[in-house]
Amino acid sequence: MKTILVSGTSSGIGYEICLKALKLKYKVISVSRNSKPLENIKGIDCYSVDITDNDQLNNLVESLKSKKINIDFLINNAGHLKNETFDKTSYESFKETYDVNVFGLAQITRLLLPIINKSGHVINISSIGGVNGSKKFPGLSVYSSSKAAVIALTEVLAEEFPNGPSFNVLALGAVQTKMLKKAFPEYVAQTNPNEMASYILDFALNGGKLFNGKLISVSNSTP
Ligand SMILES: NC(=O)c1ccc[n+]([C@@H]2O[C@H](COP(=O)([O-])OP(=O)(O)OC[C@H]3O[C@@H](n4cnc5c(N)ncnc54)[C@H](OP(=O)(O)O)[C@@H]3O)[C@@H](O)[C@H]2O)c1
Repeated sequence: MKTILVSGTSSGIGYEICLKALKLKYKVISVSRNSKPLENIKGIDCYSVDITDNDQLNNLVESLKSKKINIDFLINNAGHLKNETFDKTSYESFKETYDVNVFGLAQITRLLLPIINKSGHVINISSIGGVNGSKKFPGLSVYSSSKAAVIALTEVLAEEFPNGPSFNVLALGAVQTKMLKKAFPEYVAQTNPNEMASYILDFALNGGKLFNGKLISVSNSTP
């Protein structure tokens, strides 16, 4: 049985990915601060982990190692967004967002790499707002710049691990979740979390052989 680890699973897209992977009979490991939403679902191993907390991440990895778990698919989906114009931002607001979207993503990936199979696939979830030349929106300087960092990071990782796993990054467009509400309170997205989760999971399971170090924009609207 192949194993998939997803971060950011208490709501939105990550929650749906876990349910879909379970249906397809993968071993599912979910990582979120709030582990309750998936806790009682048989077949999902829920870890309550803040990916910005090194000790919690180390405990997660130790626990997986002690259970002799290897990972085939890692989906770095956890994300943080605060909508504030640049003049209202601070060192702290940049740090809070980068801690989750960049440092936490890098840290969980580095710590898990020893137990990720070489044939495996790491998918980082970025945003269309982080893509060079895409339309930008006021209030998202912190968030969009952090998501741009995720894209460059992914491209470098693919170079550093030529023998695998594969690393790819998906730049998502608008999906109707609570994060979208924070970014665009009035906007109604054409895509729901269930639809986006299907695409991400399918890409995770099947894209690792044909794609490596690639940025794929998964977006049908602006925003
Ligand atoms: N929705 C969109 O339109 C859109 C567009 C582009 C990109 N994205 C990206 O898609 C991903 C999923 O977002 P979503 O739209 O599904 O939003 P969401 O419902 O707000 O989900 C975000 C998830 O991240 C988790 N998370 C946040 N901080 C965390 C931390 N410190 N440690 C562990 N988990 C943490 C949250 O769980 P806990 O609070 O339980 O920790 C939550 O489950 C994000 O990376 C987001 O940037 C979304």
